[in-house]
This record gives sequence, structure tokens and C-alpha cells, in this order.
Amino acid sequence: GNEWVVTRTGRAPSNIAVIKYWGKRDEKLILPINSSISVTLDPAHLSATTTVSASPAFESDRLWLNGKEVSMEGVRYKNCLREMRARATDMVDERTGVTIRKQDWANVHVHIASENNFPTAAGLASSAAGFACLVFTLAQLFGVKETYEGELSAIARLGSGSACRSLYGGFVKWNMGQDVDGKDSIATQLAEHTHWDDLVIIIAVVSSQQKETSSTAGMQESVRTSPLLHFRAQEVVPQRIKQMEEAVKTCDFEEFAKLTCADSNQFHATCLDTSPPIFYLNDTSRRLIGLVERWNRFAGKPQVAYTFDAGPNAVMFARDQEVAVLLLQRLLFQFPPLPDVELSSYVVGDQSVLKSAQLDSQQDLQTIP
Ligand code: PMV
Repeated sequence: GNEWVVTRTGRAPSNIAVIKYWGKRDEKLILPINSSISVTLDPAHLSATTTVSASPAFESDRLWLNGKEVSMEGVRYKNCLREMRARATDMVDERTGVTIRKQDWANVHVHIASENNFPTAAGLASSAAGFACLVFTLAQLFGVKETYEGELSAIARLGSGSACRSLYGGFVKWNMGQDVDGKDSIATQLAEHTHWDDLVIIIAVVSSQQKETSSTAGMQESVRTSPLLHFRAQEVVPQRIKQMEEAVKTCDFEEFAKLTCADSNQFHATCLDTSPPIFYLNDTSRRLIGLVERWNRFAGKPQVAYTFDAGPNAVMFARDQEVAVLLLQRLLFQFPPLPDVELSSYVVGDQSVLKSAQLDSQQDLQTIP
């Protein structure tokens, strides 16, 4: 009959790169010009929640992002969905008693509804959480099991490069890989979030406005025009990846902080080196950088690190709870809060919110019943 509907809901966290991915060597398969390392964020503060339903009554694949229907014509959605459909298995839905045969999935359409609990496209990796969540939730719906470790990560990568890292919690490395088909361009976990549980992450939402230059367009321009980007990918990042892996392994905050700040700054330098130049940081971002730099100089060694993606919002790392509390106080002093914001949120710039997201409350991917 045509009357059945099967539904799954999943949640996936966002992630922030501490060694940045910027530039593709293959646009279609989304293969990067260098490896990257990220920290997965607490899904309570930054995550996507996605519900996918399948029914023979649905006439086409449809998608709603934060309550608004958007087109599924984009090649990235199509690629993810195609790869997931191709891996669908026989599925018995225990809630409805419906059985769907492997071969029938090809003709069943899906309706997808996804929501972020943070601003979309403001440089807080909303596409990372979104595509990781889509792939993870479709895997539940279609009964997809990985045939090799990292297979789902490789599919999420087709949606958004950084999404491949959101399939794992804690500290994650995306290996650039060597294969032409991208099979080895996958994320692996370096360490669980519990491995370094006195590290505190503080996010300063400087602006919730959409960025002007998408990461896709920005990267293309940088690859085409920035000599610094190619120098970085070949001569700088390989060494930094090794150093960062070691810093994570040994919970060496000083090294972690130096590498994180240096890599964020070099990424933004490649943006400035792009023609025409791309500006993701604003005055508030630069004030935050100044504050952290002065803090660390005054302390005599790094206690705080900052990193910025393709937007003005800061992700800061404090070496422990004590530093985090002092940092929050300082941020409040320099960027006073609005009267009507919730306790954990403060204004940093015009529209800005500050959130403290603790690494130790981190949960990984979740299936929501
Ligand atoms: O995967 P995208 O298109 O969201 O690009 C992400 C690029 C950066 O966020 C700037 C860096 C990174 O490694 O996440």
C-alpha cells in the first residue's frame, strides 16, 4: 500500500578546525589540498537535528532548513542522497511493522527537515553539522552499515568538506588522502573528548549575519589566485598536522594554543592574499585577537587560544576552568552584555552573543527516539 511512512531523527554536532582546511584539489569529490584537524563541539550548544521520512506517497525528495523549504537540486544534496540510497538495505521498521526491500528504496522519496541550534552560515560550520547529520540520519533510515571505516565520513564530505569531521566526537583529523576516488579522504578520531577534559571552549558570536563570501567560492578564488595558499598547503600544514597531533596526544596546551592561533591567522592571511581579497574578520574579531594576545603575553605563556573560520565569530580555548572564568569576566567587561540576553549569552559586538560550551559535556552523534 501507499500509506506507510517511516521516520528517523538524528543529531550531529558542529566542529571547529584548529588546523584549517582551505582549498580543494577536486571540486566534485571535495578533496582538499591539505589535511586538517578539528575539535567537535558540544551538541547542546552547536548542532543540527534532522528528521528524515520516507513514504511511497511522497512525490519527490524535499528539504526544509530551519522551517523553510529549500531546493534539493544542489549537486551536494544529490550526491549524498545517491550514495546513501545505493547502500540501502532491507529494513524492517519495528515501530510501524513496515518492511522495505533493498531494491524498493530506489523508488521511495524522502522528506528531510533539519534545524540548527545556532546561526546558519555565520562561520560556525553549520554545513558541517547539517551534512553530517543528514548522512548519519539517512544511514539509520536506510539501514546503511559501513563496509569500511570512514565510509559515512566520505559521503558527508561530498556535502561539505568539513562535515566529514563531524561524524566523530573529540579531536578529529581529516586525512587529505591520495586516491582519485576519495575513498581515503576521510576523518578519523585522534582522541575522545574525555581525553582532555579540563579544556574549555568559549564561543563569541560576534555577528549572526550570513557571511558575504561562501567557503566554496572563497576557496576557489584562493586556489586560483593566492600563492600563499599553495605554500601553506605544501610547506606549512604537513608539519603542523604532526605537531598538533602530538599536542593533542600529550594535552600540551601551550603548543596547542600556538599552533591554533598561528593556523587561524595564516588562513585569514591567505584570504587577504586572494584576489580580490576576502575579509572574514571584523573589528570585533580583531579586538578579541588583541585581547587574547595581550592576555598570553601578560601570563608569560599561552592560557587562551582563538580561532576563526569563514566568519567573524571567535572560538576560544581556555586551558582550564579557572582561566575560562577569568576570560569570561574580561570579555564581559570589555564587551558588556545586553540586558535581555540569557545568562550564558552576552553581547560582544552589535548583535553578539557569547556562549560557553564545555568540552566535557560533549556527547557524540545521537539518535533521538
Ligand atoms: O567544508 P566547508 O565548505 O564548510 O569549509 C570549511 C572551511 C573552514 O571552516 C574555514 C575551515 C575548516 O577546516 O573547517
